[in-house]
Amino acid sequence: MENNTRSSFTGKIGFVLAAAGSAVGLGNIWRFPYLAAKYGGGIFLLVYLILALTFGFALMTAEIALGRKTGLSAIGAFRSLNKKYSFVGYLAAIVPLVIFPYYSVIGGWVTKYLWAFVSGGTSQAATDAYFGQFITQPVEPVLWFLAFILVTAVVVLLGVEKGIEKVSKIMMPILVVLSIAIAIYSLFMPGAIDGLVYYIKPDFSKFSITTVLAAMGQLFYSMSLAMGIMITYGSYMKKDVNLESSVKQIELFDTGIAFFAGLMIIPSVFVFSGGTPEALGKGPSLMFETLPKVFETMPAGTLIGAAFFILVLFAALTSSISLMETVVSIVCDKFKINRILSCVLVLAVSVLMGIPSALGYGVLDGVKIIGMSFLDFFDFASNSVLMPIVAFLTCVFVGYVIKPKTIIDEVESSATFKRKKLFEVVIKYVAPVCILLILISSVLEALGYLKI
Ligand code: TRP
Repeated sequence: MENNTRSSFTGKIGFVLAAAGSAVGLGNIWRFPYLAAKYGGGIFLLVYLILALTFGFALMTAEIALGRKTGLSAIGAFRSLNKKYSFVGYLAAIVPLVIFPYYSVIGGWVTKYLWAFVSGGTSQAATDAYFGQFITQPVEPVLWFLAFILVTAVVVLLGVEKGIEKVSKIMMPILVVLSIAIAIYSLFMPGAIDGLVYYIKPDFSKFSITTVLAAMGQLFYSMSLAMGIMITYGSYMKKDVNLESSVKQIELFDTGIAFFAGLMIIPSVFVFSGGTPEALGKGPSLMFETLPKVFETMPAGTLIGAAFFILVLFAALTSSISLMETVVSIVCDKFKINRILSCVLVLAVSVLMGIPSALGYGVLDGVKIIGMSFLDFFDFASNSVLMPIVAFLTCVFVGYVIKPKTIIDEVESSATFKRKKLFEVVIKYVAPVCILLILISSVLEALGYLKI
């Protein structure tokens, strides 16, 4: 059904921008900096870059080629190549369902901060207690979460993504420029150099298995890998577009934006909180606690802060729209129901799943799943468990079932495959072994059986 009417991206630029649009989101601006701060700064950055050039490259190439070869999205692509492996497609399809609700909770936080800056609350937003007070309220985080998820649902329901996408094509470059400007500003604040050193210079004594797992989970998350998204995008890619160089450009785009976000946030942690382990280990709240302080010291900070949060909100919306869209289309296909019903169903389930995440730091503070709050748990379950499993199975599938040659032939149908050897070695040996080892050790650690 999908084959004949499948539309294509117009060319390489169209493809790269669309894939980068899915990849760039809160993962780059909110998640990357707090992980880098928490897991040792420079060492995390180094591990991330190595993984991006090996694992990221091999997996993204495999996924896009799988999609382009079969012309199908995840479930169909695995099934059409080998019936026994359709379950990998299903497993991949669960990931966006787990991510979407808590992604919208963070989207709600961004909306709240935008509101604070627009309504003249800059100096309150810059105080230490502000974020904690907001997040522990019984009602407010839920309301902002609902606002964000409803906007997403309306866009998906009305199918006006095209308009939003056009706007974000203009806003994304502005976001990049603004982030670079803010990064430069924060680097010139007294005391920022220590933060820069922490972020750039690897300290090998801070290396651990958890660093690798966190970096790997972040890589999957940030590049929208291991959840079937890139397979779907690949199925829209024209046969004559150079696949390898497209992958290179998407990776560069995504990593570049994450790098600048870190440059903007980590030095500020040193300036305002002295770079103590507690300040660096903040986790999900890091961006919300440090950036308002930077804006408060800036000339025209209220305006710049408001502009920044608007742009981040747009980046978050484009990602949440495509997350929801993915889930909706899977539900439509699987249960053979129409789009409207499917939207309503997905919205209802996501609201139910999101509310515990929104309340996890306040009313539900006492409720922990394996020692984690709801939001952290959903994040852990998707990024550190489900996605590595899907990535592992994808490597096994490509390396041993359909064989790397299938992918290599697909890549070579448009241009020579320069890093063919690297691809083959990573997908067959390095990636599956490493992913499995890291996955097992981290799950054992989370469950308390292992101390790393
Ligand atoms: N990659 C996105 C980010 O960095 C998040 C994301 C994960 C995503 N999976 C997705 C976005 C699927 C769109 C579709 O924020």
